[in-house]
Parts: sequence; structure tokens; C-alpha cells
Amino acid sequence: MLKGIWNAFIALFMIVTIAAANIIPESILVLSDEKLNNLVNGTDPTNNVGRLISQLTSKGEVTFKQYSDDNLEVFFGGDIKYDHLVLLPSSKKTVGDKAHFTAQSLKDFINGGGNVLIVGDCDAQQPEPIKALLNDIGIYPSPKGYQLLDHFNVGSEGSGIKLDNSNLISNRIVDSLLIDSYKGGAALISGNELLFPLVKGSKTSFTADSKKADVPLTQESAWTFGNQGFAAVAFQALNNARISWVGSSQLLSPQLVLWTLKDRDVLKLQFVTHSKESAPEKVDPKIYRVTEQVLYTIGVSELVDGKWVPFEVKNEEDKLQLSFKMLDPYQRINMQPLGPVSSNENDSRLDTYAYLANFTVPDHHGVFTFELDYKRPGLSYLMDNRLVTVRHLANDEFKRSWEITNAWLYVACAGIVVVAWCLFVINFIYIGKPNTSKKHQ
Ligand SMILES: *[C@@H]1O[C@H](CO)[C@@H](O)[C@H](O)[C@H]1NC(C)=O
Ligand SMILES: *[C@@H]1O[C@H](CO)[C@@H](O)[C@H](O)[C@H]1NC(C)=O
Ligand SMILES: *[C@@H]1O[C@H](CO)[C@@H](O)[C@H](O)[C@H]1NC(C)=O
Repeated sequence: MLKGIWNAFIALFMIVTIAAANIIPESILVLSDEKLNNLVNGTDPTNNVGRLISQLTSKGEVTFKQYSDDNLEVFFGGDIKYDHLVLLPSSKKTVGDKAHFTAQSLKDFINGGGNVLIVGDCDAQQPEPIKALLNDIGIYPSPKGYQLLDHFNVGSEGSGIKLDNSNLISNRIVDSLLIDSYKGGAALISGNELLFPLVKGSKTSFTADSKKADVPLTQESAWTFGNQGFAAVAFQALNNARISWVGSSQLLSPQLVLWTLKDRDVLKLQFVTHSKESAPEKVDPKIYRVTEQVLYTIGVSELVDGKWVPFEVKNEEDKLQLSFKMLDPYQRINMQPLGPVSSNENDSRLDTYAYLANFTVPDHHGVFTFELDYKRPGLSYLMDNRLVTVRHLANDEFKRSWEITNAWLYVACAGIVVVAWCLFVINFIYIGKPNTSKKHQ
């Protein structure tokens, strides 16, 4: 009796803690420079930074700090103190808290799962730690004073350039772009495969010091030429932490902000199971036999408006693949969609999409891995590895006699010998024997 009450109490306590954990809002740290963006007395909701701030305040608890503050620690004990960092432009290269706000602490923040949104400005600085972080992941923004220019696409306000859908690199985050007069920098990027650029300069664009318009354009005086300059770049680390950089606050589209703060394009692997086709009720066996038929099933959900919904692959290049490998993949197959299912057996809500791979274990024994490795730009990565042993046929599992096609000849030969011997005996006794007695009569 007492034990029952105690268990009920524990269950209640757990429900309350889980509910409380869900209510805790995400925390966001916004770093800015009051000379450029005064965020302390409220912001103008009609400008880009003001819109960003109102989007952030609707999402979570926002803390505002200045780069000049002497406490810019992003860690609390060993854990990250904020879920997201928003880094606005600064007028100075240095920060107030040199000991805690370093490129290394920013990298640790990302390794701890935090997301970072970095806003550039062609008339402002990027503080040193932020610049070092960007350079480390392979983004090289143009220095202060440099601006993306294009004499063939002059913007409506004279000093800027026009950016439209032709500047958009096809991606799943931002689907349309129209900026009448873009006034901002551009970045060069490295070949880092976790980076994916979103907005590129047109063929006739270049990035140069806007104050020195009379200096001839040379390799030294320009930062980028043509398509090699990018105005918005996104990055997703292997732990699914997200970083985005934009050359100006004009490019802060709500979609990009949502993506960076992990409100969209987030996937979750709800379940992974495998079984023999002959015994589907026994899930996740440790041992398979060579040439057995295997069913490998996964369920994938996507976060939409704060809820998990089934993630259905719409096009060919986004298909999920399974590899069955021992050093090299012996099988690599596209997974077949099965349909929406529920990830929880006691819940009828269909919140996940099931995919199936149905294949034959190779005729090779050893330790194999079911490997799911799904990396598509813009979607969070899915990775799963399961080790299984593939064994030889046991002594009594080999085929016997007539089941072996090669044996047909020999079995038939044995039969033929028996039949031939019988025919011979019949022939010898009744047919072949000459009737000698009649001849002598
Ligand atoms: C912010 O508001 C306070 C009080 O209303 C005022 O004293 C201060 O000057 C304001 N700061 C700026 C930069 O407008
Ligand atoms: C579903 O309900 C059954 C019986 O009520 C329980 O034993 C089982 O643990 C539940 N499963 C989950 C995933 O909650
Ligand atoms: C798996 O593939 C085998 C052979 O192609 C087929 O006979 C079997 O019906 C398939 N099983 C499922 C569950 O699709």
C-alpha cells in the first residue's frame, strides 16, 4: 500500500518536472553596440533589427548586452548559459570581456549545441573573436568599408545594389528574395562541406572599398569578384548546431532566423528497428545468418510549429539510404516510404513517417553495421549505427541431396544404375536367355 502511494507520488513528481522543463523558455543573448543599435530603450519595429528583436522576444527570453560589458560569459558551470546567440555589428574590434568572450569560447558554445546568428554591416566591425570563429568555419567576410557593388544592378537608393531571386542559391531555407537596395558586405567561403551559401553576388558584382570609387579595381583592392562573393551563408555543425552569417541586417528574413534558432527543418529519428523477415516479431536480433532476408525500419519526424509531424521525403535527392557495411558497404539501398505511423504505442496521433529497407544479407560472415547517415543541406542530420553479427550456415542448415542442383546428376546416376541393374536382371532371367532345349529337340 505504502509502496503504491510512493510510486504514485514519484510518477506525479516526474510529470510535474517534465511539464516544468517544457515551460522553460529558450534563452537568447543579443550582443550589440549602443552606438549602432540602441536596444535598451526598445526598438523601432519598422527596421530590420527591430523586427528581429520582436521575433526573438516572441520566441524566448532575450538578454541584451553590449560588447563593451565586462561580463560576456556564455557558459554557466560546464553548460551553455543561453540557447542562442545573436551577434549584431559593433563599432570596435575589441570586446569588454577579453577573458570569457573568445573564439574558443564561441566554438565551445557551438560544440555545446548553441546556435549563433551573426549580422554583418559594411560600415561596422566584426569583433575579433567573431571574425576568428567565422574564419575557422570557412567564412571570410569583407572588412569594414567594403561593400558589394554592381554597376549593372544599381539599387533604387543609389548606393546599394538590387538583389532578387537570381541571386538566390536554391536551398530549403529561403525561397524568395527581393531587396531593392542592398548595402552590405560579402564573404568569400572555403570548401567546407558543412557550409552552404544562400545568397550570391551576380556575375557583374564585386566587393571593394566604397569610399575609394576612383581607385582602379585590381586583385588587391577587391575582396570578391562575381559569383565568388556571398551575402548570406549558413553552416550546420555535426552536432546539428547552426550558424548563419548575413552581410547586412537587410537579409535577416524571418525564415532564416527561424532556421538558425532551430524552429524549422529539424528532424528526429523516432525509432530504428531491424528484424528477420521470417520472424518479424523478434526485433533487433544480434545475429543474422548469411543470405537471410532482413527488414530495417525507421521512423522520422519533423518539427513544424513546435510539434512533431511525419517527415515525408518529396523528391529523389532527399531519399533516405541504408548501408549494410563491414568496412565497405555490401548493400546500399534507398529506403521505401511506408506511411505515417505513431511513435508511441499508446498514442494514436500519427507523428512520424516510417521507411523500410528490405534486403538480403550478403553471403559473407562477420560483424556488420546497419548505418543510416543522412546529411542534406539545411536539414538536421540523422545518424545511427547498429552492430550485428552475420554467421555462417550451421551444420544442419546446409541444403541436402535433391535441393542441391549440382547433385541432380549424381543422384540421377545412382537411380539409373539401380534401374539399369533391374532391367539387366529381368533381361537376363526372362528375355535374353536363349531357349536351348527347344533347339536340341
Ligand atoms: C533611455 O531611456 C532612459 C530613460 O527613459 C533615458 O534616460 C536614456 O537617455 C535613454 N537612452 C537613449 C540612448 O535614448
Ligand atoms: C503503453 O501502455 C502499456 C499498458 O498500459 C504499458 O505497459 C506500456 O509501458 C506503455 N508504453 C509506453 C511507451 O508508454
Ligand atoms: C521483401 O523482399 C522479398 C523479396 O524481394 C519479398 O518476397 C518480401 O515480400 C518483401 N517483404 C516486405 C515486407 O516487403
